[in-house]
Amino acid sequence: MRIFITGGAGCLGSNLIEHWIPAGHEILVLDNFATGKREVLPAVAGLKVVEGSVVDAALVDRLVAEFKPEIVVHSAAAYKDPANWLEDAASNVTGSINVVRAAEAHGVRRVINFQTALCYGRPSTVPIPVDAPVAPFTSYGISKTAGEQFMRMAQVPVVSLRLANVTGPRLAIGPIPTFYKRLKAGQKCFCSDTVRDFLDMEDFLALMDLLLGENVTPGVYNVSTGEGHTIKEIFDIVADHLQLHDVETPPIVPPGADDVPAVVLDASATTSTLGWRAKHDFEQTIRRQLAWYDRHGVTDIFSHLAAQPTSR
Ligand SMILES: NC(=O)c1ccc[n+]([C@@H]2O[C@H](COP(=O)([O-])OP(=O)(O)OC[C@H]3O[C@@H](n4cnc5c(N)ncnc54)[C@H](O)[C@@H]3O)[C@@H](O)[C@H]2O)c1
Repeated sequence: MRIFITGGAGCLGSNLIEHWIPAGHEILVLDNFATGKREVLPAVAGLKVVEGSVVDAALVDRLVAEFKPEIVVHSAAAYKDPANWLEDAASNVTGSINVVRAAEAHGVRRVINFQTALCYGRPSTVPIPVDAPVAPFTSYGISKTAGEQFMRMAQVPVVSLRLANVTGPRLAIGPIPTFYKRLKAGQKCFCSDTVRDFLDMEDFLALMDLLLGENVTPGVYNVSTGEGHTIKEIFDIVADHLQLHDVETPPIVPPGADDVPAVVLDASATTSTLGWRAKHDFEQTIRRQLAWYDRHGVTDIFSHLAAQPTSR
């Protein structure tokens, strides 16, 4: 299958590439390397990488017209400077419009979009059902939500996945790399008083395989284990993994002004419609991530929050 992946040099995109190239798919990537890295994309047959931005409508249209993908995976997103509203709006709103318009114009079979759970803002029900109202309040959340809404208006089937925190190779955001790096360096940590859900990359990839199939109902889906865990639970697993048994108990601090106390997605409608459910449990997921850092280390740590790097 021919698959066009925007933001393919990022965490999710590069994992999809590592998973799909050996399966024989042909992949075209468009990335501006704002947070992704060219070196994670191997020079292998079946993979072509173009440096550029989804904001460039003519470029996006030309790439889709020439490559003729059956599937478009829209993974590009800007978030690294929470004060840079214009960049977030350009990449996440205009960029999403450009991608879906090109898909519409050139007969793409399906567009798969990745959305943040921050679209729900501060939800009144947790776990958050997929039909809960959207109420984002950060530059990243607002721009991603506008982008998703535009995409859903297009005349091309769009599947938008509202994702839990996906763990896996090259994860560079949130509490797991932060605690791992700081504890290893003997630095102090704090835990924000928040609850999050985590999804293992293998579970995410299994869903993505399923979405390449013929019969997929377009729409918006929550993608999660449905289980919430505190940031302190993650701290404890990281400390245990590093065998720091007498480490100082970290202070638990209230969530920052731009953070959300609890983000746990209810994926039951995803299970009933698509037949997918996560297989890895919370502790396995965190420990598999830590084992990856043991082998490869933590390089970057990004956050879309101005105050605290704890959620995605
Ligand atoms: N990883 C998660 O747990 C998670 C959770 C919720 C939502 N998401 C969404 O999934 C997608 C991928 O996330 P990720 O974790 O891989 O992040 P990432 O930062 O690793 O990947 C995003 C990629 O997009 C690229 N990019 C940014 N602006 C661009 C532009 N204008 N044009 C072309 N490329 C651009 C970056 O360089 C990067 O390679 C994003 O849309 C994000 O909002 C991810």
